[in-house]
Order: sequence, then structure tokens, then C-alpha cells
Amino acid sequence: MSKSWQRERKKDPFYRSAKKVGYRARSAYKLKQIHERFRVFKKGQVVVDLGAAPGGWTQVAVEEVGEGGLVVGVDLDTIQPVLGATFVRGDVTKENTVRKVVERVEERSGRTGRTVDVIISDMSPNISGNYSLDQAQSYWLCHNALKFAEQTLMHGGIFVAKIFEGEDFVTFRDEMKERFSTVRSYSPPASRKESSEVYLVGKGYYAPGTEPGPRDEEE
Ligand SMILES: C[S@@+](CC[C@H](N)C(=O)[O-])C[C@H]1O[C@@H](n2cnc3c(N)ncnc32)[C@H](O)[C@@H]1O
Repeated sequence: MSKSWQRERKKDPFYRSAKKVGYRARSAYKLKQIHERFRVFKKGQVVVDLGAAPGGWTQVAVEEVGEGGLVVGVDLDTIQPVLGATFVRGDVTKENTVRKVVERVEERSGRTGRTVDVIISDMSPNISGNYSLDQAQSYWLCHNALKFAEQTLMHGGIFVAKIFEGEDFVTFRDEMKERFSTVRSYSPPASRKESSEVYLVGKGYYAPGTEPGPRDEEE
């Protein structure tokens, strides 16, 4: 970590605020801003947080769903405990991780079948520096997050995913449009200016076997 980068970070208001409040990552503010804009969470809901380490989004989700809710975080890395959440370590693109997450949700929520109200994914690939490759990896992670949603998300549920801008962005947005009544893209103010990340928010999930309802106009 270079000295100039460290100096910049200390000046960053979201980094400073996250440190002060006790959020593990400044990215917590991105989810707060997404929630303020799109009303993603409600009390008592079941949320799965894909790519959860170090736990900033999980902390925000726990606050929003409250004591009656459940947040299950998943990551390749280990995550220090967060009160009110439970974690599964594994690769979201692998079937055995998906099975472990489903089992954990069923065990903790007492629900079976389509158990999840909201899926949030902030997964990022390891950045190689080759933008086309990184963008393709970002799309692959989103594709797997959506595949996870197809197995677990309730009819009417909400899905939020980060994707890097590029040609696969449109492909992924179109895949989401097939499955949600509204799909919006959003760059929260807490995203760094130089960042190419965008968040897609899908509301009103069409569970398999249900008919699509009227579609809202794109913003
Ligand atoms: C930007 S960080 C997430 C930050 C988190 N939202 C927070 O607020 O603390 C992206 C995470 O995605 C995870 N990730 C990347 N590929 C993954 C995969 N295939 N399965 C699970 N997690 C993955 C990485 O390990 C990394 O921790």
C-alpha cells in the first residue's frame, strides 16, 4: 500500500466514517445508499450476502432486517463473526457451496423451498489489470449469483449485484430483465470516481412457473 494511497484513504469521508462507526469496510455506505434509493430490505427478512468479506454489507443488512431477520454471508475468505449473521466459507460458483448455503438458511430460518427474500452480491474477481479479463470475470460472478437466485429467491424477491462496466453489462442486464419486473442500474455516491463498478437492482422476481407482470419503464 503506497504512502500516497494511504494519505488519500485518510481523507476519504466514507473511509473515515466507516472507521468511526465500526463498519469493517467503506463499502457499507454503498449498500446504505442503494437501500436508501431502492428500499431493498424490510424487518424480519432472510438475506444472503454473496462475497461478504470482510463483512461491511453484512453489518448493514443485519441492521436493516433487525432481530427477527436472518443474514447469511458467503465468501472464499474467512470472516470474523458479526452479531446477528452466520457465514459459510466457499466458492459461490460451486454447487457444494450453494448446497451449504441453502442448508444453513433452512436450518436457521425454519423455512423450506424458496427461502430467501433478498440476495445481495458485491463479489469481485482478483483484479488482473487486464480490463477485458476482469470484466468477463465480474460477469461470470454475476451470472453465478443470478443462478443462485434462481434456486433460492422467493417470488417477488429483490436481487442486487455489482458488475464492472463493459460489453457484458448489457448482456447481464438483459438476463436480469427476463427475471425481474424492474431492473435499474445505479452508481452510489460512495463508489470511487475512478471505479468502473455499477450496481444492478432487480425487484419483483418471477419465480419459475409464474407469469411476468407489467414492466416498468427504464430510468
Ligand atoms: C469487494 S469484496 C466485498 C466487500 C463486502 N461487500 C463488504 O462490504 O465487506 C469482494 C469479495 O468477493 C469475494 N469473492 C470473489 N469471488 C468469489 C466467489 N467465487 N465466491 C465467493 N466469494 C467470492 C472475495 O473473496 C471478496 O471478499
